This record gives sequence, C-alpha cells and structure tokens, in this order.
Amino acid sequence: MKFKKFISKHTANIRYKLASLIMKYLTPVLHDQIDMSTFTDHRAFLYKTDVIPIDLRPSFIFMKKRFDEKLLIGAEIGVERGRNSKCILKELNIEKLYLIDPWENYDEIEVNWSHMNNNYRHVQRIFENDKRVRIIKDLSENAVNHIEKDSLDFVYIDGNHSYKYVYQDLELWFNRVKEGGVIAGHDVFLNDGVLGGVLDAVKDFCYKNNIYFYVEHPDWYFKKKQ
Ligand SMILES: C[S@@+](CC[C@H](N)C(=O)[O-])C[C@H]1O[C@@H](n2cnc3c(N)ncnc32)[C@H](O)[C@@H]1O
Repeated sequence: MKFKKFISKHTANIRYKLASLIMKYLTPVLHDQIDMSTFTDHRAFLYKTDVIPIDLRPSFIFMKKRFDEKLLIGAEIGVERGRNSKCILKELNIEKLYLIDPWENYDEIEVNWSHMNNNYRHVQRIFENDKRVRIIKDLSENAVNHIEKDSLDFVYIDGNHSYKYVYQDLELWFNRVKEGGVIAGHDVFLNDGVLGGVLDAVKDFCYKNNIYFYVEHPDWYFKKKQ
C-alpha cells in the first residue's frame, strides 16, 4: 500500500514536471489556439500598481483588471474549505457568489465522509454572516439548474479534475456566463489524459468553439466573446 502511494506520488511529480516543460517550450507549437502573447500584460499592469495580493490566483488577477470596480455575480465549482472563495470575496467586488460542492466522496481522491462533512461545516461557518454567499451543496451538473442563463460574470471550475468532468462543466456552465464574462479554472496540469485531463478538456472545448484560452499555472481562463 505504502509502495503504491510512493509510486503514484512520484509519477504525479514527474508528470507535472514534464507537463510544465511541454507548456513552456512546446505548447505554442502543439496547440496554436493558445495565445501566449498576452500572458503577462495584465500581471505587469497590476504589479506596477502594487495591488497583487499573494494568494490571488492568476485568473482572478486577470478578472480584477478586466472588471475593475464592476459589481460581479460569480460561481465557484468545487469549494473544499473555502480558501479560494474567501480570496475572491476579499479581492473582487462581489454582489453574489455561488459556492457549489456536494462535499461527498467522489472518484478523484480518497477521503472519508467525515472529512468532507467537516469541510462543509467549516464553509457554512465562515460564510454564515456573508449575505453575498449562496452555498449549493450539490454536484455541479445539478447545481447548474439553479442558475439562469447569461447571469454570471464568471465561473471558476475546480471540482472534479478528470477530463470527462471538466469538459462537462465547460459545456454546462458556458451558457450561464454573460457575453464578455470569464470562464476559468484551477489545476491546469491535473489528472488523466496526455497533458492532464484539465488541459486536454479546456483545449478540446476551446478548439471546438473557436476560442482562445490562456494558461497561467495553476490556472486556465478565457473570455466569452461579446
Ligand atoms: C480541489 S477542491 C476545490 C478547492 C477550492 N476551489 C480552493 O481552491 O480552495 C475540489 C472540490 O471539488 C468538489 N467536487 C468534486 N466533484 C464535484 C462536482 N461534480 N461538482 C462540484 N464539486 C465537486 C470536491 O468535493 C472538492 O471539495
């Protein structure tokens, strides 16, 4: 058992390093739909103005610049203990944030029910007085039915990271986001597939729909055309 864990941990590390190398040197050649040219523009802008908080992820740095002071309605799929949700609420001008997670075991990782339930209770506790937050304790494929079409400024996909689920989330949530909104997600190199299920799914979805997407480790993101 220990040996199995050791092997799987190190295989993941090696795959992560390989994927990083591929992204750095070969991605523009392999996947010409990825536009590398604007990767750092918004970062440069924000660094110059000294407003990058340490734990704000790249896609939210992008959104911070894109949306500026606009009041936003967004959704985070996969919440866990609400670490990223807290950051979103602190750094963006949020009117409403849907937090979507079943907090139940799923096939990607081995955790027990009480661990998941603790996470759920923790999230309930930390956001209980925040009127901007609506927690939906359900799978994203069900929760999407509670959200109107073209109603979100952004969705952040960080639930199940295997190809099938990321692709499904993209298909289900795309039309929930307004034109000009942002669709983003985390752990771009995670899981199954060649470059990782997440990147493969984003790449396939964007290719099919003729969309440019951006990768800034550990995030990916794109704008919905206006
Ligand atoms: C990596 S964690 C999310 C971390 C969180 N976004 C953060 O950055 O702090 C993944 C979460 O996705 C949830 N999850 C798994 N499958 C899901 C699904 N189909 N729909 C919504 N959430 C899912 C899990 O319960 C888990 O809490």
